[in-house]
Amino acid sequence: MTTTVYPHPTPAADGEPRPGAFGNATDLVCRACGARQPLGPSYACDECFGPLEVAYDFPAVSREHIGAGPPSIWRYAALLPVPADVASFRTTDPGWTRLLRADNLARELGMRTLWVKDDSGNPTHSFKDRVVAVALVAARQLGLRVLACPSTGNLANAVAAAAARAGMPSVVVIPHDLERAKVLTTAVYGGTLVAVRGSYDDANRLAVEIAGEHPDWAFVNVNVRPYYAEGSKTLGYEVAEQLGWRLPEQVVIPVASGAQLTKVDKGFRELVRLGLVEPHDYRVFGAQATGCSPVAAAFRAGRDVVSPVRPDTIAKSLAIGNPADGPYVLDVCRRTGGAVEDVSDDEIREGIALLARTEGVFAETAGGVTVATLRKLLATGRLDPDAETVVFNTGEGLKTLDAVTDLAGRAVTIEPTYAAFRAAVLG
Ligand SMILES: Cc1ncc(COP(=O)(O)O)c(C=O)c1O
Ligand SMILES: [Zn+2]
Repeated sequence: MTTTVYPHPTPAADGEPRPGAFGNATDLVCRACGARQPLGPSYACDECFGPLEVAYDFPAVSREHIGAGPPSIWRYAALLPVPADVASFRTTDPGWTRLLRADNLARELGMRTLWVKDDSGNPTHSFKDRVVAVALVAARQLGLRVLACPSTGNLANAVAAAAARAGMPSVVVIPHDLERAKVLTTAVYGGTLVAVRGSYDDANRLAVEIAGEHPDWAFVNVNVRPYYAEGSKTLGYEVAEQLGWRLPEQVVIPVASGAQLTKVDKGFRELVRLGLVEPHDYRVFGAQATGCSPVAAAFRAGRDVVSPVRPDTIAKSLAIGNPADGPYVLDVCRRTGGAVEDVSDDEIREGIALLARTEGVFAETAGGVTVATLRKLLATGRLDPDAETVVFNTGEGLKTLDAVTDLAGRAVTIEPTYAAFRAAVLG
């Protein structure tokens, strides 16, 4: 039997994490009341049960230092709750995905400068590899034994793969009606896979209950959620670095729990505070499917409270009816002058086809939501066609083939002769 040696694999003997285990992170701070508590496997404030997030004491960080780092999220290790030598941990090393200039799509939409941040290039083909890698390292530092999650699909892939690579057991809880491809691309990594008769929100409730019974399990988006969520900041860092250390003027981001959108904004603000980019205004737009649009509905109604819904949409990866970060998405979009909008299933299919046809990028349904929302925001005049815009493609089309099955009839079947080809294709 081989033994893998991890740097800082367990907490110190007194149960406290080792010095430096969380890099420049100092403590957990409540987003509702500001109370602070020590870094640990906690996600709710002791005072008010509000959500906790990681606070830091950043040293000076230079563009050169980051630029000399590995081509993965670990180039930003100094800005994450991870130890300085994190790149030597066994993770999937996600991130540093391509930022594509989307001139064809821009022309079609009447825009001046448009980019696609294509996170389908991650190891399990969604942005979830970023958040899971940070959660995995936190779990190691906290001495937690099992990597687990409730998932709408992509997180399931990322957790099962990351656990396999780290040599940890995994437990993944999904709704029973997930896309077949997402079930298979989780099962292939081994680990325990449980499908519940119910929605994602039911799976999430069950996960919270299991986490309470098993304090040595790391449910990445439950008890180590503050660390997990920080991983999404790297999407914002990368966009800025790939633009030549500049913030875009507009970003369009899909919203399920809302964690990603709020953390991209946090990442942008940190870059400004650290002097890594020039400060300038940017507007953040959230994208949802109409069949699960609780945040867009609250935005439209001018409400601060997000009322839960029962999802019914082809965008299953975004089907969270009771989004934990919904109110914070509203804050970010309102503060920056953006909006939250939703699009129908037909518009989602058109969004997938539009991105594929113009840029050669095959997005999953979440990317279809984002591209269709971009188009709708332009049509209604809320997004400025002349401002530099980045649209996020966070997942891979091969995982949601059902959304494009009507394209199967596209092929023209002929006899293998030139005469038949000429008659059928060249008219
Ligand atoms: C492909 C994809 N994009 C976006 C999201 C939304 O992420 P968040 O829950 O952070 O809003 C998800 C969530 O599962 C996803 O799978
Ligand atoms: Zn609090």
